[in-house]
Formats: sequence, structure tokens, C-alpha cells
Amino acid sequence: MKKDKIAFIGCGLIGAGLAANSLLTGHPTALYDTCDLAIIRDRIAAILTTFVENGVYTKEQAEEAASLAFYTNDMVAAVEGAVFVQESAPERLEIKRSIYRTVQETCGRDVVIGSSASNIMTSTLQEGALYPDRIVVGHPFNPSHLLPTIEVVVGKQTSQETVDFTKQIYSEMDKVPVVCLKDEVGYLVQRINSQILETAIYLANNGYASVEDIDKAIMYGPGMRLPLCGQLLSIGLGVAGGGWRALAQKYCGTDAPKEYLVVADGVDEEMAHRPAAIGNDVESIIKYRDKALIELQRVQRRIP
Ligand SMILES: NC(=O)c1ccc[n+]([C@@H]2O[C@H](COP(=O)([O-])OP(=O)(O)OC[C@H]3O[C@@H](n4cnc5c(N)ncnc54)[C@H](O)[C@@H]3O)[C@@H](O)[C@H]2O)c1
Repeated sequence: MKKDKIAFIGCGLIGAGLAANSLLTGHPTALYDTCDLAIIRDRIAAILTTFVENGVYTKEQAEEAASLAFYTNDMVAAVEGAVFVQESAPERLEIKRSIYRTVQETCGRDVVIGSSASNIMTSTLQEGALYPDRIVVGHPFNPSHLLPTIEVVVGKQTSQETVDFTKQIYSEMDKVPVVCLKDEVGYLVQRINSQILETAIYLANNGYASVEDIDKAIMYGPGMRLPLCGQLLSIGLGVAGGGWRALAQKYCGTDAPKEYLVVADGVDEEMAHRPAAIGNDVESIIKYRDKALIELQRVQRRIP
């Protein structure tokens, strides 16, 4: 079945990475930039080569993906017929807003615009737009062709339909969309990340440990669990029987704080949604985690 066209406006570090995901998942893909298009072609070729060299896609699949690309310096031609536009232009409000004006004048309300913006809120991007409800931040992470998470940040005027469609498109591109319901600085991930970063800087500056040991503490400790179970599920596996209710019982008795119970319900839901292959109850998740921790130590060259 022919897939929908996706347009990428601004194909630097972040935009090119996402455009490569779109190509590799079979979408006719327009790549617009103001620069010499030879630069963008080279970026895409380099990404496709990385995937082929590491055995993710065959050379034939990469060639098929490359054949779906349409490179252009004409924004109108790029967005015509697209169902979704990912804007990854420089982090300047006036540039982004002027792009939305052109896109929405060309496509009407049919197209949804996701912005890679890191520090501009969705609600700010929406101000003055023709169809503000069709704009949302879709914030990826560098290297964007490899890291699956994209934060969909709901602004004051974003419609539920826009959120649902954005999630659908990112899923089709093989990404993992997560929805941030509060349009605030840092969204979800940078807030979590900045806590770790600020604490690490504090510890280094206040004589708690060497920089090397602080990094090692994360790399060979909690950092290894995070890619397997996240933070909240990981902690829930740390008591016999597993789960946040067992944790609350062990450490708080009957006086479990209500914050724990909110997390407990969420973790139950999270476990149930996991594909069986990575475990979807306490026992199977621990089995998967332990196997993966051995694999990760192979990646770290600690065990053969
Ligand atoms: N670099 C990161 O780690 C990172 C991570 C997540 C999100 N972001 C966000 O992604 C966006 C792009 O960042 P980047 O790191 O890819 O920057 P970049 O400088 O690598 O790429 C920007 C691209 O936009 C093009 N461009 C310039 N003016 C333009 C215009 N008027 N219209 C369309 N394209 C134009 C440039 O030629 C360039 O190719 C920013 O909003 C940034 O905050 C960056």
C-alpha cells in the first residue's frame, strides 16, 4: 500500500535524521532546505550507509528508500500533497512562524505540523497561525535517526485529533512518540535529564567524587537499567515480588504515600502495554532485563 507523503523543512542534523527514518519506512519524502541540496543528499546517504553497515537494512532497502526522496529548495513544492510536515529549521521563532504561514497557506488545515523546537513552547509557535490547532512540538533527540523517542508537546490550542495523528505518523516512522501534556520549558526529557546533569555537576564541584567516577557510577549502575525498563518500572523491580505496591508495603507499610500509588497504577499499565518479547509482567520483565544486562556488558566490552 502506498504510504502518505511527509515533508521535512530544514534538513540539518535533526531534520535529515528524521527524513531518513521516513524514507526507510517507505514514505514518499520531501526534503526542503535553503542550502545547497548536495549537502542534504550527502547527509542522507551517510545515514543510510550507517544503517546498511550495521546490518539494520540491506543495500537494496537503502536504495529503495533513497528513491523515495524529493530534494527541493521550493517549500511550496515540498509540502504540496503532504499529510505531515516536520519543521526542523533553526531555533528562531520568526523563521518557524514564517514557515507555518507558507505551509498552511499552501495546504490549508489538512496538514499537521510537528516542530523539532527544543526551547520554544507549542503555544508560542501557534500564536498568529492560520490553523493553530494543527501545530504541535514533536521534539526528537540527537542522533535523531537512531533515538526513537519524540516528545509530542500539547499546546493551548492543539487539538486531540492533531495529537493522535502526530503519534500515528511518528509510529509509522518507527519512532516512539510520548505525549507531554504540559507545555513548559524542558518538556519531559530535558527536565529529567537536567536533574541528572545538575546533580552530577554539583557532585563533581563539591568534592564527592572524580568526574570519571561520577560517569562510571551512571554507566555501570542505574544507567544500564534505564534503556530496559525506564526509571519508574526499574525501581519497582527492586523488591521481592516486584512492583510499586510491594515497594510501598516494604518501605512504608500501610502508609504508602499517594504519589507511590499513582505511580503503581501507571507502572501496572506500562507493564501490560509492553510487547511480550521484552516482558509484560514482573517475572518476564526481570528475565528479559537480566539477559539484556549481560548483553549490555558485552557492548561495554566487560564480558566476552
Ligand atoms: N541539535 C540537537 O541536538 C537538537 C535536538 C532536538 C531538537 N533540535 C531542534 O531542531 C531544530 C534544528 O536543529 P539542528 O540541530 O538540526 O540545526 P542545524 O543547524 O543542523 O539545521 C538547521 C537546518 O535548517 C536550514 N535552514 C536555515 N534557514 C532555514 C529556513 N528559513 N527554512 C528552512 N530551513 C532553514 C539550515 O540550512 C540547516 O540545514 C532546532 O529547532 C533545534 O532546537 C535540535
